[in-house]
Amino acid sequence: MTGINRRQLGMGLGAAALGAALGGRGAGAQNLPATAPGAAGGAADALAFPADFLWGCATAAYQIEGGVKEDGRGETNWDVFSHTPGKTTDGGTGDIACGSYHRYEEDIALLKALGAKAYRFSVAWSRIFPEGRGKPNQKGLDYYNRLIDGLLAAGIQPHMTLFHWDLPTSLKGGWQSRDTAYAFADYAGYMAGKVSDRVKHIMTVNELRCFTDLSYMTGGKAPGLKLPMDQVNQIRHHGVLAHGLGVQAIRAGARADTEVGIADNATIFVPAIETSEHIEATKKAMREENAMFLTAIMEGHYLDSYLTAQGANAPKVKAGDMKAIGSALDFVSLNIYTPNFVRAADTPTGYEILPHLANSPRMASPWLYVGPEALYWGVRTVSELWQPKKIYISENGCSADDPVAKDGKVYDADRVMYLRNYLTHLQRAAREGYPVEGYFLWSLMDNFEWEDGYTKLFGIHHVDFKTLKRTPKLSADWYRELIRTNRLV
Ligand code: NOJ
Repeated sequence: MTGINRRQLGMGLGAAALGAALGGRGAGAQNLPATAPGAAGGAADALAFPADFLWGCATAAYQIEGGVKEDGRGETNWDVFSHTPGKTTDGGTGDIACGSYHRYEEDIALLKALGAKAYRFSVAWSRIFPEGRGKPNQKGLDYYNRLIDGLLAAGIQPHMTLFHWDLPTSLKGGWQSRDTAYAFADYAGYMAGKVSDRVKHIMTVNELRCFTDLSYMTGGKAPGLKLPMDQVNQIRHHGVLAHGLGVQAIRAGARADTEVGIADNATIFVPAIETSEHIEATKKAMREENAMFLTAIMEGHYLDSYLTAQGANAPKVKAGDMKAIGSALDFVSLNIYTPNFVRAADTPTGYEILPHLANSPRMASPWLYVGPEALYWGVRTVSELWQPKKIYISENGCSADDPVAKDGKVYDADRVMYLRNYLTHLQRAAREGYPVEGYFLWSLMDNFEWEDGYTKLFGIHHVDFKTLKRTPKLSADWYRELIRTNRLV
């Protein structure tokens, strides 16, 4: 970073000083930092987040809604997968989940009680187009209209994801078929036309690697296939193509002030030591290791190194595909949970990714290695490599062992520890002027954690899955306080 930008000014200086620094221009006033406790008279507050920082929570349709047979919703890959014996822990399904199809008003009340400014939710494609394409289902759309209107009435911005893994089974071949990308674009354009009068932030797809590699290569997620690499690469291509065609369709269908982006779980790299050579290695790793997903989207081409490494297994690309895939975005949203440590090395790539070790610290999910710096380096490497206009953290949070205490409350100090440390590093990114605009905590409440069923819980509200009663955990109290003060303590 060179020089000091407006956001840095807004975080470090009091109102009067900022006004003077900006030459008395009035426009700066709305970006002033919240007055921090103890920072009398607007003195510098190195712990504050930007005054307009967007604090929110995230969920996804199949993980919370339930109501899978209601009002004309079509069947999805996850209905089939979760009902296949042995595919999810304890046979968990999303049939009921948190019952949000009926209890969405309670969810909005939880958000409001937190003081959340935004809510990231996803639309169940098969509620809108039960067969994936063709005739829309008004009752499905009505549900999301009620949710959106309820959020707005509560002063909460809706941030909408169009595809969070629940794929209509009528789309034959799923992501193996190129047609699915076109069906997605039609659905995306349709939704944009219906809600962009009220929804100003739309994300195309959620976590490319999960609904491609983990679904069709390693097979832990629906539809649970283990295909050879030529097919996997083609599926990855259909995923990024769906995103790109979706961006174009949203722009064509939405009002001009609607912002379009993606929620991706790019693999995040952290320099083992913060020196220039390891930082350079980290940036290289970020670009190379995400070549089939975020790099392709941000650069509009596949890296030669990726194509060469895949050889005959490389994806078949049609004319116009890469242009669509590289469609300009208004923002990039990152789902960040875990780091990969990198060092500069004398290897053909110039870096080495250090393995996680048996005793590396992690949370309740075995894959959830702890590394709070991931939030800082995720934002910084994406900013420096591709200069997106805005970055959001569309997911961050953790599973933890959450025993219910005698008084009925969950005192999840581990989750508070995780969040506090991660957010320290996000605050650093904001403080240094990287364009991070907001943060969505995963998750608003305990929910269906895919192949782990209900055995790994990420909520800051406990859900009693017998009664569906929601109760704030200690982490919800902590998050409410963070939102209120807008600063680290
Ligand atoms: C990312 C996914 O988007 C979300 O669906 C999942 O529950 C969380 N990670 C936690 O694993």
